[in-house]
Amino acid sequence: MKFEYAPGATPIDADEATGLIPSHLTLQHELNEYEETNILEAVDWLFGRRRGDPLDQRFIRAVHRRMFGQTWKWAGEARRSDKNIGVRWYEIPLHLNQMLGDVRAQIEHKAYPPVEIAARYHHRLVAIHVFPNGNGRHARLMADLLLTELANQRFEWGRESLTTASEVRSRYIAALRAADGGDCQPLLAFLGQITD
Ligand SMILES: Nc1ncnc2c1ncn2[C@@H]1O[C@H](COP(=O)(O)OP(=O)(O)OP(=O)(O)O)[C@@H](O)[C@H]1O
Ligand SMILES: [Mg+2]
Repeated sequence: MKFEYAPGATPIDADEATGLIPSHLTLQHELNEYEETNILEAVDWLFGRRRGDPLDQRFIRAVHRRMFGQTWKWAGEARRSDKNIGVRWYEIPLHLNQMLGDVRAQIEHKAYPPVEIAARYHHRLVAIHVFPNGNGRHARLMADLLLTELANQRFEWGRESLTTASEVRSRYIAALRAADGGDCQPLLAFLGQITD
């Protein structure tokens, strides 16, 4: 399998690469399509009959396992090496707890509108970068889930796939970088279009 990376994507380590479950894939687009099929099953599960708490660490991992469990052996498990994005791997549970506590407080005190609470949650989740890979897709789904609970809405994420290089992806990554620096406005502008 030869991995190719869109700008802002996280490279797979050699030891993570051995966790790839399907053995028949050779090209990145084949992997993307394989993962996408797995993810769509997770979306059906998630927005179908059963739902969990997007502010619960175990459920956060369970969703990743649903999304990538047919593709990666380490799906649902926090990473055990450092990446170019994200906190030190051994501080992941600490940062997650802190973040989830902050979000609960924001909700309780209506500190921001629901869309902004969900957008901030998305950024914090992806900035912690819990998993070896799949963080972007996972954190987008988790934010949709939180926004569904808060306001019965989902984001449109620029109305197209964000997984490959595109103008929309560039705007998305730039917005996350601004949020890294404490400015959430570009991310809110990017997410401006929301659906019921
Ligand atoms: N500067 C940044 N700050 C915070 N998050 C970032 C930054 N740059 C990229 N990201 C996030 O990291 C994700 C890439 O991480 P990863 O490769 O684990 O996710 P993915 O789901 O495999 O990829 P993608 O969603 O990009 O297809 C991006 O989608 C984006 O959400
Ligand atoms: Mg990736």
